Amino acid sequence: METGMLHLHSLLRWVILLLLLVGLFQAFNKKESIKSTSLWLMIAAHAMFLIGVYQFLAGRYGILNGLPEGVTSVMKDPVYRFYRVEHPLLMFVAIALITLARSKAKVLNYKNTGWLLLIALIFILVAIPWPFREVGAGRAWFPGM
Ligand code: HEM
Repeated sequence: METGMLHLHSLLRWVILLLLLVGLFQAFNKKESIKSTSLWLMIAAHAMFLIGVYQFLAGRYGILNGLPEGVTSVMKDPVYRFYRVEHPLLMFVAIALITLARSKAKVLNYKNTGWLLLIALIFILVAIPWPFREVGAGRAWFPGM
């Protein structure tokens, strides 16, 4: 189950990135279809949050597993710091911004929707464990690679 969750978490990132790009285009070009895009984006982001919380608790780096031998502090170990602090925190803010953007899109407030989505995109791009990240924290482009 854990591998399945991780693969889903990894794959959903591309859905979220794609929806964010489409949403940004629609918001800045004042397209009414931003209403449905923002809804799907919010659903995907909230699903991501739930899977993330599961991993945060019970995954490889989950807090319920404590710390492995040799790691004395979460903040001193770059991989643990990334998966237990930086990644969850930045992604949580991004998901909150996506939720806020959805409420703005509902009333067709294009400008605010666009800016909120843009800031969320930046947070997500910074917090994704891209393959080129520091050794240990980086992950593959696609699940199972
Ligand atoms: C838009 C939101 C998010 C995106 C795009 C995202 C993306 C990713 C990606 C690409 C990975 C690497 C998966 C792999 O190994 O291939 C990952 C891992 C992880 N994410 Fe997220 N994530 C998001 C939200 C969250 C949240 C909110 C949490 C915690 C509450 C979280 C916790 C984790 C943890 C703990 C791992 C490491 C799992 C492991 O290697 O065992 N993520 N995330």
